[in-house]
Amino acid sequence: MIEEEAGIVFNRQIADKTYHMGLESPRIAAAAKPGQFVMLRVFNGIDPLLRRPLSICRVGGDGIFYLLYRVVGRGTAIMSRAVKGERLSVLGPLGRGFKLPPPGDRSFLVAGGIGIAPLISLSQVVDKDHMAFLVGYRSAAEIIPAEQVGADTSVSIATDDGTAGHRGPVTELLKANVERAGEGRAIVFACGPLPMLKAVAALTSKWNIPCQVSLETSMACGVGACHGCAVKSSSGQKKPYHHVCQDGPVFDADTVDWGRL
Ligand SMILES: Cc1cc2nc3c(=O)[nH]c(=O)nc-3n(C[C@H](O)[C@H](O)[C@H](O)COP(=O)(O)OP(=O)(O)OC[C@H]3O[C@@H](n4cnc5c(N)ncnc54)[C@H](O)[C@@H]3O)c2cc1C
Ligand code: FES
Repeated sequence: MIEEEAGIVFNRQIADKTYHMGLESPRIAAAAKPGQFVMLRVFNGIDPLLRRPLSICRVGGDGIFYLLYRVVGRGTAIMSRAVKGERLSVLGPLGRGFKLPPPGDRSFLVAGGIGIAPLISLSQVVDKDHMAFLVGYRSAAEIIPAEQVGADTSVSIATDDGTAGHRGPVTELLKANVERAGEGRAIVFACGPLPMLKAVAALTSKWNIPCQVSLETSMACGVGACHGCAVKSSSGQKKPYHHVCQDGPVFDADTVDWGRL
C-alpha cells in the first residue's frame, strides 16, 4: 500500500454529474490491479477529514491512473472543483480485485451507471473476442462515453426510460446475451447499485454461472481498522462477515448474504 500526494493531470466533466480525473502516481499506477480502489483525500485540509473510496478505472503506461466519479455529496462535489496541478493525498491500491477468467471463457461485464468504473480496467485485460460489456443507465443524459474513459471495446447500453439503447434494466440485456451465447463456460462480473447486483446474483445463481461482484459500501478507513464496511457472509463461509475494504471489494456473489444487504 502506497500513500502519496498525486498531482491532478486533468479533471473534466464527461456526463451529467460525472467526472473523469487523471492523477499522476507512477507507483500506484504500476501496482494497481483491475477492481482495486484508492482512498482519496478530496481536500488538503481537515474538513472533510475522511478519505473517499474510488475504484481505479484504468492505468496508463505514463504513470497516470484514472478515476471516474459521480457527484453525490460533499466530498465528490469538492473533487469536481479540483484543477490540474493540485495535489491530493492518495492511499492505494487497496483491496482485492477481480479474479481473471481463463482465456476462452465468455465474460459478461455488467455495470449500473458509475459502476462502469472498475469494469473498464477489467475490460482491458479479459479476452475481448469472448466478452460482452453491458451498461445500464436511468436515462441517456447519464451515459458515460466509454471510449473517452479508456474502453477499447463496444459497449451495449440499456436505459430505464428508453432514451438510448435497450429500454429496460441492464439485466434484460444480460439475459439476452447469455441466451445468445448458448453453451460453454461463462462468468459474469458486475458493479452497480445494490438492487441491480441482487438481480444479477439471483440470475447467475439460477443459471449456475459464476459471478464476481464489486461492492461499494460506505468506508471510513479503507484498511480494515474501523469495521465500518462489514457485510454478512452467506452460510458456510469461514467468517460471519466480510470486510469489503480488505476481503473485497470484489467477492464471489455466492459468498454474500444478499438478504442481509
Ligand atoms: C470500493 C469502492 C469503490 C468505489 N468506486 C467509486 C467510483 O469509481 N466512482 C464513484 O463515483 N463512486 C465510487 N464509490 C462510491 C463513493 O465512494 C461515494 O460515492 C463517495 O464516497 C461519496 O462521497 P461524498 O462525500 O460525495 O458523499 P457523502 O456526502 O458521503 O454521501 C452523499 C450520499 O451518497 C451516499 N453514498 C455515500 N457513499 C456511498 C457509496 N459507497 N455507495 C452508494 N452511496 C453512497 C450517501 O448515503 C449519501 O446519500 C466507491 C465506493 C467503494 C466502497
Ligand atoms: S472501511 Fe474500515 S474496516 Fe473497512
